[in-house]
Amino acid sequence: MKLILLGPPGAGKGTQAHRLVETHSIPQLSTGDMLRAAIAAGTDTGIRAKAIMDAGKLVSDDVVNTIVADRIDEPDGVNGFILDGYPRTLPQADSLEAMLAARDTKLDAVIELRVDDDAMVERIAGRYTCVNCGTGYHDTLNKPEVEGVCNKCGNKEFKRRPDDNAEAMRTRLQVYYKDTSPLIGYYYAKRQLKVVDGMGSIDTVSEEITSVLGNL
Ligand code: AP5
Repeated sequence: MKLILLGPPGAGKGTQAHRLVETHSIPQLSTGDMLRAAIAAGTDTGIRAKAIMDAGKLVSDDVVNTIVADRIDEPDGVNGFILDGYPRTLPQADSLEAMLAARDTKLDAVIELRVDDDAMVERIAGRYTCVNCGTGYHDTLNKPEVEGVCNKCGNKEFKRRPDDNAEAMRTRLQVYYKDTSPLIGYYYAKRQLKVVDGMGSIDTVSEEITSVLGNL
């Protein structure tokens, strides 16, 4: 299955992608994670991307398209993948379509997680992740079962993202509405768009996604 999770910052794309990885045994391809890995590794791409990401702006289409084209050819993606945070512009969507056509395949669905602006801000302000396995938590909305200990791997170290601050958040929202939200119409016109209410609890949203996927 080849899926896109589409939605604004804090919609729950990463959270739901993690769950789909477990239930469907296909990888999560998060361009945000790939770019953060490039920053951590100190590659040329990472060095160029850091200031752009910290400011909440978009990395260039060419850079992101190349990263995704390389990643989808890796063996773990042979049965499908979940694209999280890509595509994010109309040129990226066109590029993805060309990439898939060149591999004689296509998307199964695009799931839009729809959330209110206030919820996005609240979710991002309290977000943190396990340093070891990347599982996401929230100060109030999604705490670990044992305080200070990751549910999944037992690690006790967590981190927060440098772009999860008020100023970058304002830019990320503007960028979403200007550059990314046109993809809703793009995929609606292709009859690939499935809208899921992202305002429910994490479990409720997962159930709704499962139901949408079951009806494909
Ligand atoms: P990226 O890493 O993709 O960030 P984003 O799109 O801004 O999305 P987030 O990761 O912030 O949110 P999410 O929807 O995954 O929410 P989460 O599940 O964590 O991109 C970062 C940057 O990289 C970009 O700004 C850009 O610079 C660059 N970049 C990346 N891709 C690019 C591309 N294609 N082109 C150009 N540049 C690119 O949830 C948030 C919090 O809410 C968590 O704490 C979670 O526990 C909680 N939560 C989740 N769901 C619920 C729920 N239903 N109820 C209550 N709490 C919930």
